[in-house]
Amino acid sequence: MSFRTIAGDGPLRLVVVGAGGMGRAWARTVRDAEDTELVGIADLSSAAAEAAAEEVGAPGLALGADAVELARRTGADAIVNVTVPEAHHPVTTAALLAGLPVLGEKPVAASVAEGLSLAAAAEHTGQLFMVSQSRRYHRSLHQAKRRLAGLGAVGIVAVDFFKAPRFGGFRDEMASPLLLDMAIHQFDMARFLLDADPVSVSCEEYNPAWSWYAGDAAATAVFAMEGGARFVFNGSWCSPGFETSWNGSWRISAERGTVLWDGEGEPGADPDEAAEPADDPGREIAGSLREFVAALRRGREPMGRVHANVMSLAMVEAATQSASQGRRVAVDDVLDRSYDAALATERDADVRAVMKAWPSVRDALSLKKEPQ
Ligand SMILES: NC(=O)c1ccc[n+]([C@@H]2O[C@H](COP(=O)([O-])OP(=O)(O)OC[C@H]3O[C@@H](n4cnc5c(N)ncnc54)[C@H](O)[C@@H]3O)[C@@H](O)[C@H]2O)c1
Repeated sequence: MSFRTIAGDGPLRLVVVGAGGMGRAWARTVRDAEDTELVGIADLSSAAAEAAAEEVGAPGLALGADAVELARRTGADAIVNVTVPEAHHPVTTAALLAGLPVLGEKPVAASVAEGLSLAAAAEHTGQLFMVSQSRRYHRSLHQAKRRLAGLGAVGIVAVDFFKAPRFGGFRDEMASPLLLDMAIHQFDMARFLLDADPVSVSCEEYNPAWSWYAGDAAATAVFAMEGGARFVFNGSWCSPGFETSWNGSWRISAERGTVLWDGEGEPGADPDEAAEPADDPGREIAGSLREFVAALRRGREPMGRVHANVMSLAMVEAATQSASQGRRVAVDDVLDRSYDAALATERDADVRAVMKAWPSVRDALSLKKEPQ
């Protein structure tokens, strides 16, 4: 499935939508990259947009409340959607339908159903919608995958994630803060390491007695992945002492050996056989921005295209359902129910027609495999 590219070799002109903490980080990254130009910032709050423009040293930058209107006014090539998850679907849909490619923050949308609608909107319009899953952009993660390549079949991917951040704000009040706001990163990294999508999950969520979160801040999830490997996520967001990195601490067990990665430094392998150095994918959002530009300029298939990325959110929904229902949940059931919900709520007739023509949700999502 192809997407429209944008000819030219000057910097790609981008509007950043959403001027919160992460939107400001994006605005700086777009400003600093050689092949992009920040041409506007949109936010429902004009004060937030103004403050972000000041912060990036561009007080005269074009600002607005509506991303599409601002993109038209500034002649932008594409938008970067860094709004809250609930706004991902409306903002990205409007942009795609207006002929603008979108680079969006994770999660793809507030629900898998909305993610399916966005995949169909991208198909209908022929525009690229890529989800920035920033933790994929780390050279050591790519090196860990390289080191695994020589060790035979991979059977177990296990990650420990133990941290104790005091965020304040919405994360302290929401249900399932760890699974909904954080674990999607490790789930997505496991899909990357295995080149495999999830089949089912058993998950338990709980809140340690001393937790400062209202919702469950700890979880253990065991996923069966395509091909039979298991992915085990074990984590807590209220565990001071010997904290792991933000990427987590990984042990990957294969037929002929093991790869260990602390989430930051060089991964180790036992046996310690030589592996070709992995290409540098760039670091975090700067890496995904570079990938987005390469896709739009040269037609290179990016990681995180909406069709593939929906599976990372499906892992989150399957895990929370498993925890609340106390049983193993098949990811196909989550996809099927989400598909029914997406068809029932879709407002755009063309987008609905695209979804109706899908042979099955899983087939539709795997139309495009991620680059290896
Ligand atoms: N990749 C990462 O490591 C990482 C880290 C933090 C946040 N994020 C993601 O980035 C996104 C934003 O997070 P944040 O912490 O900056 O949130 P935030 O609440 O600080 O900021 C969101 C901003 O979006 C604006 N907004 C909401 N709806 C809008 C709309 N329809 N049009 C224009 N603006 C709108 C709000 O006014 C607000 O200023 C979320 O999806 C979050 O999951 C990713």
